[in-house]
Amino acid sequence: MKKIITIIGARPQIIKSAALSRAIKTKYADRLTEVLVHTGQHYDEQMSEVFFTELGLSKPDYNLNIGSGLHGAQTADMIKGLEELFIKEKPSAIVVYGDTNSTLAGAITGSKMGIPIVHIEAGLRSFNKTMPEEINRIMCDHVSTLLFSPTETGVKHLKDEGFKLDNVGPFNADNPKVYHSGDIMYDNSLYFSEIADKNLTTHQELDLHHKPYFLATVHRGANTDNPKKLKAIFEAFLEITELYPDHLIVLPLHPRTQKSMEEHLSEEFHQKIKECEQFKIIPPVSFLTIIALEKNCQLIITDSGGLQKEAYFFKKPCVILRPETEWVEIVEQGVAVIVDADTNRIVNGVRAMLDKKDAEYPSLYGDGKAAEFIAGEILKWC
Ligand code: UD1
Repeated sequence: MKKIITIIGARPQIIKSAALSRAIKTKYADRLTEVLVHTGQHYDEQMSEVFFTELGLSKPDYNLNIGSGLHGAQTADMIKGLEELFIKEKPSAIVVYGDTNSTLAGAITGSKMGIPIVHIEAGLRSFNKTMPEEINRIMCDHVSTLLFSPTETGVKHLKDEGFKLDNVGPFNADNPKVYHSGDIMYDNSLYFSEIADKNLTTHQELDLHHKPYFLATVHRGANTDNPKKLKAIFEAFLEITELYPDHLIVLPLHPRTQKSMEEHLSEEFHQKIKECEQFKIIPPVSFLTIIALEKNCQLIITDSGGLQKEAYFFKKPCVILRPETEWVEIVEQGVAVIVDADTNRIVNGVRAMLDKKDAEYPSLYGDGKAAEFIAGEILKWC
């Protein structure tokens, strides 16, 4: 029996891990066992616990309870905790997801101990190193043994950075293997989509069955920590409510954004937002609820990488509140537009996306079986 350690920490990683855990349980339970480690990067009930209950995930075997902090201290505390655990558990491989500080901590700790790193969501690049995520994902890719890229573009980025694509096993950190695996989040969206249809409490509470609405989220540091950008985004939201008086904007609020709004937006501006009846700001929601909101909205406005793609999975246009994206395919396809945190560009982006009549959403992210493939390769090579 082979043992892997999966590291999760931030909200999207808890969700992503569901796909691999499911594949291991249904196909490889006799050969592969998974130890789940939560760094505690996200800790609020609505940012963490709710996903385990709702997605039927096993509770983490360990929780390091690191919590928030400066990036250096947060990552360092994680490394310290993970090293002890890896010594104790002696895993055959460490699985990390995406680009958060938890990903980086797992990759540094495991690679220094000579344990193969499996990076799921490898090869994505924004080419913007002011994003902590860009640094995390580059560092992680370059110490990994198995790199699973969700897209062709990701594979190309890795090739450009010197990774060989035609090498043969056995694989290790000096002879890493790059795969185009498809996207495990596509696996999850397909799997949970039907279940989400039965989870419409938020729809009932906000009466969304009877009103068209836009779904919005904002949480990126570049937007939340910059008062000008934060204000520009909310000004755009208010303009959009005027432009589309029969539409609501539903905004599940990340705790980070809530704190920044309280700190950076004037009392008067806050009041304006509160008084706008079309604007529904709600606490962070569970995965099934966000899927239900995505499936039934008219359009998504977001700075989240996950939501951009889910918009595509559910055939919804998307307005991206960032200066660039890692998911370039959806922009090239013409169903998403990059507008940054610029009031006019956001409003015009919404208009352009809603006016577009010939939108097509061909399959870009695999066949919904990426997790099974990944588990099989881990078994073969680690
Ligand atoms: C992190 C990831 C980001 C990912 C996002 C998903 C990094 C560098 N960033 O960003 O890539 O898209 O998770 O949500 O790892 N907070 C709470 N309660 C919580 C979690 C966070 O109040 O449960 C607040 C704290 O003030 C904290 C701040 O949010 O300081 C930022 O949290 P952190 O996990 O560091 O970054 P995210 O913005 O969530």
